[in-house]
Amino acid sequence: MIVLGIETTCDETAASVVREGKEILSNVISSQIELHQAFGGVVPELASRQHAHVILPIIDQALSEANMTINDIDLISVAKGPGLIGPLMIGINAAKTLSWSTGIPFIGVNHIEAHLYAALMSHQHEVPFPSLGVVLSGGHTSLVLMNGVGNYHVIGQTIDDAVGEAFDKVAKILGLPYPGGPEIERLAKMGDPSRYSFKSGRVKNRHYDFSFSGLKTAVLYAAKGAQSKYDSKLLIQEEDKPHIAASFQQAALTDIVKKSVKAAHDYHCSSVVLGGGVTCNQRLREMFVENEPKIRYYWPSKGLSLDNAAMIAGLGYEKYRMTQKGDPLDLEASTSLKF
Ligand code: KG4
Ligand code: ZN
Repeated sequence: MIVLGIETTCDETAASVVREGKEILSNVISSQIELHQAFGGVVPELASRQHAHVILPIIDQALSEANMTINDIDLISVAKGPGLIGPLMIGINAAKTLSWSTGIPFIGVNHIEAHLYAALMSHQHEVPFPSLGVVLSGGHTSLVLMNGVGNYHVIGQTIDDAVGEAFDKVAKILGLPYPGGPEIERLAKMGDPSRYSFKSGRVKNRHYDFSFSGLKTAVLYAAKGAQSKYDSKLLIQEEDKPHIAASFQQAALTDIVKKSVKAAHDYHCSSVVLGGGVTCNQRLREMFVENEPKIRYYWPSKGLSLDNAAMIAGLGYEKYRMTQKGDPLDLEASTSLKF
């Protein structure tokens, strides 16, 4: 079965052709980072316009890089949420139009669930279930008990900022470009993680939930003074920035690693499946293994951590195989779609 995947939930327009849910024949991603960089974050209206502008050429490119035409496709899979409404509608309408005009079935899948599928598809062998799913992206931070593909139970999530969002905001405080994650990681390599005593938040009586908003404010006050605002002047010197970055990264990642490992033990999971843009962070990967080497970790391979359409095609394949049913043409985008 050959699946065309389409992804437009946020600021990447992506299309991909995947065979049997695993073999990636093409994985084309058009990033809008430069477009939004001047604003320090994603501007939804600009994102929608850019998706509309490039969606058809990107689909064409994905097909041609896979040496295929639309007639070779058996299923069209599209991210139906969560995400920004304008961007979502561009992808969904492209998928519906293609489906309606060719008769190829289409299916809408959950973008967050696809982030977890990304790690499954890049490992040939089977992941032992139950497994703990850890989603670490710019919009989501969740711990999910996975009993199999499509069989999930959310056991923890952030009550305020997502971890990637916290990286982006801390980068902004330090005057670094968007997206902040890679910038913070780069700077942190030159800093002392014990210089500032930052801590992530705890949520009363909810051991697997996260809170990064207080951590972000602690960084703001350390960098710009108590009660300062985002646009206040930096009080620290240039040479202090790496120490702030390293101390923040250490605090955020320690919290994620500890809660994930505890959840894996508590729910008898011998494996952890990770997904989302923050899994690009090499320090995170080291910290998991340092903290609990007995657990087996499944990471997305290169090109599958950040938003991409291969994971959308892969998950669409699995869902369609289970139900043998596509979605109706009146399927709607769902900005706050849950698991
Ligand atoms: O999964 P993703 O592409 O988009 C969402 O679905 O949100 O994740 C993007 C997020 C951004 O917040 C970005 O700063 C973060 O992933 N990120 C990182 C790194 N690379 C990207 N965070 C920490 N360290 C990194 N190396
Ligand atoms: Zn994502």
